[in-house]
Amino acid sequence: MDVLIIGSGGREHALVNAVLRSDLLTSVRVAPGNPGMSPHNLALDPQDHEAVVAYCLESDIDLVIVGPEVPLVAGLADSLTAAGIACFGPSAAAAQLEGSKAFTREFAARNGIPGPRSMAFANADLAIAWLDVVGDTAVVKADGLAAGKGVVVPSTLAETEAAITEMLTGQAIGDAGRVVVLEEQMSGPEISLFGISDGKDYVTLAPAQDHKRVGAGDTGPNTGGMGAFAPVPGIDDATIKDLSDQFIGAAIRGMAAEGNPYVGVLYAGLMLTENGPRLVEYNCRFGDPEAQVILPLISSDPLELMAAAANHGLADVEVSQSTDTLANVVVAAEGYPANPTRGIPIPKLPEGPGLSVLHAGTVRDEEGTLVSSGGRVLNVVGRGPDLASALQIANEGVAQIVGNGLFARPDIGWRHASNTSTHSAATNDLAGTNDMESSNE
Ligand code: GLY
Repeated sequence: MDVLIIGSGGREHALVNAVLRSDLLTSVRVAPGNPGMSPHNLALDPQDHEAVVAYCLESDIDLVIVGPEVPLVAGLADSLTAAGIACFGPSAAAAQLEGSKAFTREFAARNGIPGPRSMAFANADLAIAWLDVVGDTAVVKADGLAAGKGVVVPSTLAETEAAITEMLTGQAIGDAGRVVVLEEQMSGPEISLFGISDGKDYVTLAPAQDHKRVGAGDTGPNTGGMGAFAPVPGIDDATIKDLSDQFIGAAIRGMAAEGNPYVGVLYAGLMLTENGPRLVEYNCRFGDPEAQVILPLISSDPLELMAAAANHGLADVEVSQSTDTLANVVVAAEGYPANPTRGIPIPKLPEGPGLSVLHAGTVRDEEGTLVSSGGRVLNVVGRGPDLASALQIANEGVAQIVGNGLFARPDIGWRHASNTSTHSAATNDLAGTNDMESSNE
C-alpha cells in the first residue's frame, strides 16, 4: 500500500512509525512532515486540496491518513473521496463534531449523549443573562476551531463576562468566536477515548490520560498537552465498553442516522464526574500527545485497521492490543504556551530499550542544526509492562534533553503515583481521582 500522511507534529511522527510496522506498506510519505521523519517528508501544502489530490492520483496513493483537524474541517476528505482516493478521516460534515462546538452540543442532546448543560449564543447580553441559569463561572467555548485558544475556564463572573465579550466581538480569536457555547463547569478526572470507525462499525482503543496544564500538579495555563499515558490504570474492560457505547457508539450511530457517516478516528474527551461520565468534547482526529501512546499499543496491523476504516470494511478486521503501558513526556520550549522560543538547539537524543523520541516542533536551520520551531518540541516515549516502568524510561530520557531552554513536566502520571516512581502523594482509584481539579476545558 502506498500511503500519504498529512501533518507535521508528534502525532504524525507516531502515525508514520505505526504504518512502518505494517507488512502491507509499500511506501509512506508525509506532507509536510518534520526532521524526525525526514526520509518520508514531502513538500506539499495540505491546505492546497487540489495539489494533494493531484499528487495522490499521480503517485497512485492507496490511502491518505489525515492527522490534524484543520484540513478535515476544510473538506480535504471530501476532495479525496470525490477523486476516488481512500481517506482515513471524516468528511467536513462529520468533522463538525470538532469544527463546531454548538453543533456538537445539539447533536449530543439529540442522541442522548451525556454532557453539561450548555447553550450557544451570538449575543453577549443574552449569553450573560444565561449565567443566572448555568452559573457565574460557566466554561466559555468558541464555536469554531481556534488552535487551542478557544476555551476559557473562568474563576469569577468578571472573567466569564470578559471572555464572552472578547470572543463575540472577534477580539479574542477572530471569527471562530462569533458564536460562543456556554457550558456548566464540571469537575472530575478526564480521559481520552478513541474509536476507529468506518461509518457504521467501530473499534475502541485503550483509554489515555493527557495533562493539559503546563506546570507540575496541573498548574498554570492550558497547553496542547504536556504528556500522556495509556492505558489508564483503574478503568476495567467493562467500564471501557460502557463508555465506548455511550460516547463512541452513540456518536457513530447518530452521525450515520443523520446522513453524515463518520469515517476515521473519533476522539471523545470525557470527564468522569460524580454524576457519571460526561462529554467534554469530540475531536475528529487522534489526540496529541495521546496518539504517541495509543498507536504503539495496537499489536495487530495498524495500517490494515486504518485502511479498513477508510474502505468501510472494519467488520472484516481483527484488532488486538498490547498489555504494555506507554508514557509520553513532552519536551517544550521555554515560554510555551504563550510565547515559545524558537531556534533552541536540540541536544543529542537519548536511546535505550523501551525508549523512543518523536519530533514535534523541530526544524533544521540554515546550517543544518536541529533547533526548536514550536512550543512542543519533542515527545519522549517510554514503554514498559506498567505505568511506573514506562514513566521511568521516559523521564530518564527527558533528563538527558531538558535544560538550555527546553523543559518538561516532571510529574506526568502523578495522579497514579502509587503506580509510578515520580511522585508519592496520590491514590490509585479510578482514573486517579483523589484531588483532581480538571474542568471541562
Ligand atoms: N491532547 C489534546 C488534544 O489533542 O486535543
